[in-house]
Amino acid sequence: MKRLAILTSGGDCSGMNATIRAAARTAIANEVEMIGYRKGYAGLLKNEFIVLDSMAVSGTLQRGGTFLQSARSQEFRTEEGRKKALDNLMKERVEGLIVVGGDGSLSGALALDKMGFPVIGIPASIDNDIAYTDMALGVDTALNNIIYAVDCIKDTASSHDRAFIVEVMGRNSGYLASTAAIATGAEFAIVPEVELDLTEMCHQLRRRYEEGRTNALIIMAEGAGHAQSIADGIKDAVGFETRVTVLGHYQRGGAPTVFDRLLGSRFGRKSVELLLSGTKGVMVGLSANSLTTTLLEMVVKGGQKKLNEDLLRMADILGI
Ligand code: F6P
Repeated sequence: MKRLAILTSGGDCSGMNATIRAAARTAIANEVEMIGYRKGYAGLLKNEFIVLDSMAVSGTLQRGGTFLQSARSQEFRTEEGRKKALDNLMKERVEGLIVVGGDGSLSGALALDKMGFPVIGIPASIDNDIAYTDMALGVDTALNNIIYAVDCIKDTASSHDRAFIVEVMGRNSGYLASTAAIATGAEFAIVPEVELDLTEMCHQLRRRYEEGRTNALIIMAEGAGHAQSIADGIKDAVGFETRVTVLGHYQRGGAPTVFDRLLGSRFGRKSVELLLSGTKGVMVGLSANSLTTTLLEMVVKGGQKKLNEDLLRMADILGI
């Protein structure tokens, strides 16, 4: 192989730059050129790319986001768009593509694989909802961002008698909410996977209030309902003053943690090694701290990773 390409697609996350850098430098070490498409599949369709020589990726490891930029492309979802993408890859004599992104991006990678083009997928989404990997890129940094913010909120919650609902991202997954609840010592986690019993939660909050615990933290996943309605419900039933804080896109940015730098570097290096050894149509994942490969077909067909409900039980027990 003489020329490979990489793109970052869908929602950005910290650690993507570490992956791009590692992929580029592993390619260079094997005397292969790496190019990077700008703005995900959209850049591939417009044939917008840069050559990723060693200098181009220098100084990127410690930066959040993706310096190649990212996008969600509607055109690439069409058959016509995918044919155009394939034409562009052939025209530029690209022999293998690395796609770094979440479930939608990996579905796109599978489509290219089915068209006969060598593709490797790398799971990157703060939602940690991609099956066949313990951790996706960006999750650890997002969690660290969340706990920093929640610790600050806890200070102000305890200075008043208030219950705070902190809404975290995660789309339809409760992974961030349940792990953040454990890591911040929150009283409750509300997740999309389990229906909320508001009466029972208010009952527990009332009991705690009567014991003298006059502030509370509830971490709620964005896909689990309407935070302000739940806050109003608590206010009416328990009498707590309530506040809602939506952490939003703050969670996705910032310098990647050590974990994400290492994971991104490992994923990037492995993806190039796989392509060079003739492996294609797989996603690189992490299981028990070892790198794994799973057919993209299985990853995409498997759908959203199931929430480990034990995490939720743990959050419940520790929040008593
Ligand atoms: O999938 C990652 C994610 O950050 C979700 O948690 C969130 O729902 C969504 O992307 C936000 O998307 P956008 O950046 O397009 O607003």
